[in-house]
Amino acid sequence: MPDSHAAEHVHIDVRDVNVSFGAFAALDQVSVRIRRGRVHALVGENGAGKSTLGKVISGHLPATRGQVTLHRENPAEVLGSAGHLRARVAVVDQELALLPARSVAENVLLGSLPSRFGVALRAAMRSRVATLLEATGFDLDPDAPVGALRVADRQLVTILRAFATQAEVIVMDEPTAALTGRESERLLGVIDRMRADGRTFVYVSHFLGEVLEIADDITVLKDGQVTWQGDASATNQDALVAAMLGRSLVTMFPDRQPPPPGDPVLVVENLTSGPEVQDVSLAVRPGEILGIAGIVGSGRSELAHTLLGARRATRGTMRLNGQLYRPNGPTHAWNRGVRIVPESRRDQGLFLRHTVHRNVTLPHLSAVSRAGCLMPGAGRTMAADLLDRMDYRGSGVDIPVGSLSGGNQQKVLLARCLLSDPNVLIIDEPTRGVDVGARHSIYTLIDEAAQRGVAVIVISSELEEVLGLADRVLAMRGGRIVREFAKHASEAAVLSAILGAEPTATRKPSN
Ligand SMILES: Nc1ncnc2c1ncn2[C@@H]1O[C@H](COP(=O)(O)OP(=O)(O)OP(=O)(O)O)[C@@H](O)[C@H]1O
Ligand SMILES: [Mg+2]
Repeated sequence: MPDSHAAEHVHIDVRDVNVSFGAFAALDQVSVRIRRGRVHALVGENGAGKSTLGKVISGHLPATRGQVTLHRENPAEVLGSAGHLRARVAVVDQELALLPARSVAENVLLGSLPSRFGVALRAAMRSRVATLLEATGFDLDPDAPVGALRVADRQLVTILRAFATQAEVIVMDEPTAALTGRESERLLGVIDRMRADGRTFVYVSHFLGEVLEIADDITVLKDGQVTWQGDASATNQDALVAAMLGRSLVTMFPDRQPPPPGDPVLVVENLTSGPEVQDVSLAVRPGEILGIAGIVGSGRSELAHTLLGARRATRGTMRLNGQLYRPNGPTHAWNRGVRIVPESRRDQGLFLRHTVHRNVTLPHLSAVSRAGCLMPGAGRTMAADLLDRMDYRGSGVDIPVGSLSGGNQQKVLLARCLLSDPNVLIIDEPTRGVDVGARHSIYTLIDEAAQRGVAVIVISSELEEVLGLADRVLAMRGGRIVREFAKHASEAAVLSAILGAEPTATRKPSN
């Protein structure tokens, strides 16, 4: 296509946009041309401004300065008001704003249907959702209440909701952060087909491999400014990382020393809880990082909840430092030194209206005041220092957690657990929504905690992460531990264990 014609194909034109929150500029002179029928990826560190730009493009946040225009296919028609944008741009956002008491079908059609559901409408609704499920290949029960779904399935619901609208442009803010490799692949396939039909996508992701696979154009943001922009075929992963961070990353995972020998701190025998956790036995030593790999639905998170007593064990025993351990919930577990960074930060972890400082220090306060050794300001300094080490680029620790970028919220959860050392630290998806630079810092902090003697259990659906970090990996399938792997096992071997099948050709073995 000759360059002089490029303007005709611009679908959304973002010109010199600034967005300020008080004195802080989340976007600074940002210009992006999003072409019709293309996938335009936004990448950058946590807090770089990706979600903010997504909200400006979809008309949900006004630009402080600059303008956003939407070009229709008829070149004479140019629309620019927030209302125009909201009517034509759909968003799949990081926040998973769903109605938990309503069904999958109702949530999917929220926004595309009148608010009262008659009988005829209900039937139409079911068939519309069935068509969408078939077209996407997503495995969801349209009648299930959304509140009962796993995080990954809720993410699929928000994606379907965007597809259900007739929006010309779909902004996807980390749509695959909670999905398995297989589901992500499926989603990319759907996006590819919809792009061929002329839909335009704005795609935000920290998975650069995925970005390079699906995007036509890429914009890199750093501290609210564009640092690189161009054709996806003109760049590669290393160049993107350098543009994102302003430096290159040599290694991702710490070079771990083997953990010291010693007695396990936590010993679990024949633990059973419902059909999701079946006869699980494991032991983890101080200083050891134990990985648990499994696909969504394998019982990984349910196992974690049982270790905290948030789920009742129907059979089996747990011992902590040799003593019988029968937790009756997260607070009880916390007091015994067993802590979790949960999978879903919004539902299970954070008090969004409270400050960062309060979120990090609150569970420590009773212990601290009993010890009588923490001055009021010290907790704040410790929290700020810890967050700094994770490349937290938020605006201090006195703002509400709800106003932080998604990746920074994850860092707050981890900081809470590491403000003082627990006996056992369970981390369910440690780097969900976290940028590559901060990912490296988080792995380093986990490694250091282990070196200080914390027993760490890392649960992740990213095999590379489990294998890169853990000293030993347990493969989980159908609620059971099916195999144990030593460090440096091949990705293909672990994958075949967790799938219970031969590895598919899409993933290369790591060695
Ligand atoms: N409502 C708000 N009030 C104050 N600051 C805000 C608000 N929304 C966003 N910010 C700040 O603007 C900056 C950009 O945030 P944004 O959510 O766009 O980042 P992001 O690139 O999407 O990051 P992530 O990868 O972590 O999702 C952050 O520093 C964030 O704290
Ligand atoms: Mg974001």
